[in-house]
This record gives sequence, structure tokens and C-alpha cells, in this order.
Amino acid sequence: MKLGIVGKGGVGKTTVSALLAAAYARRGARVVAIDTDSNPNLGMSLGLSFADTDAVPVLPRALIVGAGGDTSSEDLIRDYGRCTPAGVTLLSAIRVNEAAAGCTCAGHATVRSFLGDVLAEHADVTLVDMEAGLEHLSRSGGTLAYADVLLVVMEPSRKSVITAARTMALADDLGLERVYGLGNKARGQGDIEFFHAAAAEHGVPLAGVLAHHEWVGEADRAAAPVTDAPEEVTRDIDAVVAFLDRAGAKVGAR
Ligand SMILES: Nc1ncnc2c1ncn2[C@@H]1O[C@H](COP(=O)(O)OP(=O)(O)O)[C@@H](O)[C@H]1O
Ligand SMILES: [Mg+2]
Repeated sequence: MKLGIVGKGGVGKTTVSALLAAAYARRGARVVAIDTDSNPNLGMSLGLSFADTDAVPVLPRALIVGAGGDTSSEDLIRDYGRCTPAGVTLLSAIRVNEAAAGCTCAGHATVRSFLGDVLAEHADVTLVDMEAGLEHLSRSGGTLAYADVLLVVMEPSRKSVITAARTMALADDLGLERVYGLGNKARGQGDIEFFHAAAAEHGVPLAGVLAHHEWVGEADRAAAPVTDAPEEVTRDIDAVVAFLDRAGAKVGAR
């Protein structure tokens, strides 16, 4: 399964990406997680130190991956993938460490091509932690054109639900059929009800709702990996995995 995690800035894409990747790894799946944020920190959520996250080699730009291209997804995983304490292989696609160095389109082109080539023999789950905004769908070809499922992470705000509705419309143009909203940071029954009502109003099917967990902020401050998540957090994320199973995105475990 190829899963794109998208949504507005700060809604929890990286947190959800790391928790989901770790949940699939716990089930015995081979998981490749791709960080496409120009300010990458998925590695830290997967248990790498800041220095090790920064040292993950960035994928070459504008690669054509697959038959007749520059390289294969298998080679890229071998040469650029880094094992993390969460049991997930991390790829880093975009890093901006020079001012005025130009746009990141060529990095996104590599990710698009990689997703088109990556096969079940190399990874059971390929998960992309996408940068904020809608450009991953509008950019030439669409970075996530080969994703099986898009999860649009939302916080309890109407604007983030509207972002999900806009994402669905663009994804539809790309021929992506399975696009779901995922509520995050729900601070009680009122927020859960808001997610259900607003998602229905804007035509966004819901994959689930994750609560606001104090542990998430504490783990961030302590630089602790998501693998240490308490049961209340893993229960929330396992419900999303179960939804994805039911939605037909079943994942083969080893
Ligand atoms: N379920 C949650 N409970 C509590 N805090 C959360 C939750 N999800 C995300 N956060 C916090 O929200 C902030 C943004 O999360 P992050 O995953 O970095 O978002 P994004 O990748 O969308 O920018 C972080 O400080 C993170 O700790
Ligand atoms: Mg992020």
C-alpha cells in the first residue's frame, strides 16, 4: 500500500505519519517512510537523533525510477534508506539548506517516480509525509499520483476540513479514489462531533479521529520516538489501521 499523509501546516501530518508507520511495523510489515518536508523531522519521530536525521542522505533529484530509468526503487531503498529505532526505513526526499536555491519540484519528481515503481517485494507499506499545502497534487504530474490512499489530517477547525474538501477535488482529478479525512487533536466529545458534522457537510469521508494526547507534546519535547507511545495513543492509531484494512488497503505482513 502507498499512503500519502497530507493536510494544512501544523495539523499533525508528521506525528500521524510516524505513528502509522510504527503501527504497521509492529504488525510485521516492511515500511518505508518518505519525508518530503523541506524542513524534515520525521526521522526524529521515528527515533533518530537530530544529528542522525540531518545525516540521512537526500534522494537525488529528478530521477526516473523503474524500467528504462536511472535506477530502481530497490536500489534507492538500499542506498538512501536509513533504519530507524521504530523499525521503519526512512527516506529523505527534500532538504533546503541553502537560501535562494530554487524550487523543490525536482525532488518531488523523484518521489513521484519512486512511488510509481515501488513494488510489494520491496515494501509492504510506503508512506509519504507530505509538506503542507496542495502543491503535491497540482505540481506537474502530481507527487502523489501513484498513491493508493490519501489521508488528509485535520485539526478541529473548519479551515482544515475545507482543506480536506479541496484536496479531495484535486485528488479526484488525478484519478485517486481513496481519499479520507482524519481528525486529530480532538479535545473531547465536542471536537469529535465537530469532525463528523463538518466532514459530512463538506463531503469528506472520515477515516477516524485521534484524540489530543498530552504524551505527543511531551514526547516531542523529550525527543522520544513514537515507539514509546502509551496504549491510549496506539489504540487510536490502530483504529485507523483497521479502517484502512476495511477500506480495502490491506497490507501483507511478512
Ligand atoms: N494527537 C495529538 N495530540 C497532541 N499534540 C499533537 C497531536 N498531533 C500533533 N500534535 C502536536 O502538534 C504539533 C504539530 O504536529 P506535526 O506532526 O509536526 O504537524 P505537521 O507535520 O502537520 O506540521 C506538534 O507540536 C505536535 O506535537
Ligand atoms: Mg510535518
